[in-house]
Amino acid sequence: MERKNMSTAIDKFDERMRRRADRVGTTTVHRGELLRHPVYTRVLHWLVAIAFILSLLSGFALYTPWLFRFLTPIFGGGAMTRLLHPWFGLFFEIFFVFQFLNWFAPMAWTQADRRWLKRIKEYSINKDKLESEDVGFFNAGQKLYFWAIVLSGVLFLITGLLMWFDHVVPRWIVAISYVVHDLAGLLMLAGFIIHIYEGTAAMPGTFRGMTNGTVTRKWAWTHHPAWYRDVTGRDPREDCEREQRRLAERERAIEMWEREHDAQEDLSR
Ligand code: HEM
Repeated sequence: MERKNMSTAIDKFDERMRRRADRVGTTTVHRGELLRHPVYTRVLHWLVAIAFILSLLSGFALYTPWLFRFLTPIFGGGAMTRLLHPWFGLFFEIFFVFQFLNWFAPMAWTQADRRWLKRIKEYSINKDKLESEDVGFFNAGQKLYFWAIVLSGVLFLITGLLMWFDHVVPRWIVAISYVVHDLAGLLMLAGFIIHIYEGTAAMPGTFRGMTNGTVTRKWAWTHHPAWYRDVTGRDPREDCEREQRRLAERERAIEMWEREHDAQEDLSR
């Protein structure tokens, strides 16, 4: 009951923020497309991304001496980098709290996610052209990334504050904080590299969901069939097969036309 009240409060807050953002920006959904991420989600995602990249670059500059030399000039020198890094981190935390509330519901773990994890090898080698029918708005890999950010975010915040106020914290706690902070940073870096690959080159058509806010129906039935079924009320496999038949017919028609065209040219010579 308590949990239900909490998620209702989150939904209400999120809905209010979505409506406000929709008044400032718009998303145009063309024929053959579906709304994937509304304005509010997109703004939050890119604020999180900017704050994260600034934290990562300034953090790595402080972490390794050879990067320190190359990266610190971007932030106005070593001392300035040291000063700015905790603020970048703080902005990342604040923006991510809103993103967390925004995605809390679709990121809930389900039985379908457990099944997805069992097929992760097939997924990574792209064995099946279509995702399994039970994959909803986010797949289990995306959910794991999200929850890894939540975990790292908590660790960053606690250890970051301990290091920021190191003059009032026992030295051994500060020393442990450095190790935990750096490990969380490495985890995030690994996740970030996979995330960029999955969001761009690995799945063409995904990136526009975070820029224009829309994806094609084909993208939806290929990668998130259960979500496609939810928003359109249609069968993803049937629609995919119909599209394949349409394309095959079109190809046949073009071939026939080319053959007739060649035959007519031969006759006229
Ligand atoms: C700068 C490069 C980035 C690119 C190109 C990128 C791209 C994307 C795209 C296209 C999506 C939508 C995926 C979908 O609709 O299925 C997405 C979702 C998401 N992004 Fe990013 N993103 C970037 C940076 C970040 C950063 C820095 C974070 C957080 C530290 C982040 C966290 C997320 C999360 C949690 C999701 C939802 C789950 C997922 O799709 O993995 N992104 N991103």
